[in-house]
Amino acid sequence: MRRFTLQTFATALLTLIVASAAQSQTNYDESKVPQYTLPDPLIAADGKQVADAETWRTVRRPEIFRLFEQHVYGRSPGRPEKMTFQVRSVAKDALGGKATRKEVRVLFAGTEDGPKMDVLVYLPNDAKRPVPLFVGLNFGGNHSIHTDPGITLSQSWMRSKTKTGEESRGTAAKRWPVEMILKRGYGLATIYYGDIDPDFHDGFQNGVHPLFYKDGQTKPAADEWGSIAAWGWGLSRALDYFETDDDVDHKHVAVLGHSRLGKTSLWAGARDQRFALVISNDSGCGGAALNRRQIGETVARINTSFPHWFCENFKKYNNHEDQLPVDQHMLIALMAPRPVYVASAEEDRWADPRGEFLSAAGADAVYRLLGTDGIPTQKMPEVQQPVVGTIGYHVRHGSHDVTDYDWQQYLGFADRHFGK
Ligand code: GCU
Repeated sequence: MRRFTLQTFATALLTLIVASAAQSQTNYDESKVPQYTLPDPLIAADGKQVADAETWRTVRRPEIFRLFEQHVYGRSPGRPEKMTFQVRSVAKDALGGKATRKEVRVLFAGTEDGPKMDVLVYLPNDAKRPVPLFVGLNFGGNHSIHTDPGITLSQSWMRSKTKTGEESRGTAAKRWPVEMILKRGYGLATIYYGDIDPDFHDGFQNGVHPLFYKDGQTKPAADEWGSIAAWGWGLSRALDYFETDDDVDHKHVAVLGHSRLGKTSLWAGARDQRFALVISNDSGCGGAALNRRQIGETVARINTSFPHWFCENFKKYNNHEDQLPVDQHMLIALMAPRPVYVASAEEDRWADPRGEFLSAAGADAVYRLLGTDGIPTQKMPEVQQPVVGTIGYHVRHGSHDVTDYDWQQYLGFADRHFGK
């Protein structure tokens, strides 16, 4: 226990030192963005123009998807055969009678001593069932999203600076306006990301990775999943559960995430087309931001500070962004024709707000080919002026965070696309 704590502390310290050294040499100067050419999402590997929806669906989309698997996030396994769900509690009078709270344990290997995750679900009591819902991973344990004393305190590994115990209830509540979401007729589900894979580099010994090792395998191959893909895989397993819950409209599940968990929601949405709507909040490098701009956080920096997030192959592109067969606009395009929303914050220059917009805009041609209205403009909007089509985008005032302003846009976007 003591060794574990020291090791966690040392890892955190090292990450901090590396990150601050990296941040000090960061380019934020738009005039120093290198000249670059983005790969065209609508030119297939055989050099032919993709001119119809069918060719996108059967040829080009699978090509792009495989490139992201192989070079960026890594291949993930499917649904484990022995996985089971355990509904551990249902409280119909939660939050002063406004909500039904459920806690559901997902046993990935079907056993209590194997890897598992706990899904916390709130459903509005005054809405017609089944209800559409938002699902996203959280950073501090399910009990951090609300002060509700009925939420089970997480016993999982936590980042060293994260509060634990009773005093940690509701510490992230500002990012999760549960009452506002319920009032709008949506459910909310969340899972602690550390249940799926603790967020430090231990050579993939903890978390879900070892469950899938073949005989003699000790770590993922160079094109197999890192932690981001594992977290996204966990979101798909939550969706497997929603398909079994009659209170949830599983055809209208929006997946969202902030920062590293925004990278995760995008990859989850790309991998699993059952997610009906996808939201990236300040996801930055490895999320919505274009790699080739090399502004703010870069591929080399992210792979150095967080060597466990992507697949091993991604490291080949450290300082060689121009050789990547994809860029992040093609990740956004993988959501098409499903609605996707990309949000930035003005002061969050580490995540490159302009690069996040350009990705959203760069997916437009694919959305239009599939008969949707894409994004209404190719010009980056002013702060606090959302541009919304089937692709939505805004940059708001303030810093790296999830705010009520962000949530209001997401709720409006879901209303628009879920026909509310
Ligand atoms: C770091 C990292 C980002 C990430 C962020 C977060 O800043 O460099 O890529 O998005 O952490 O997840 O909070």
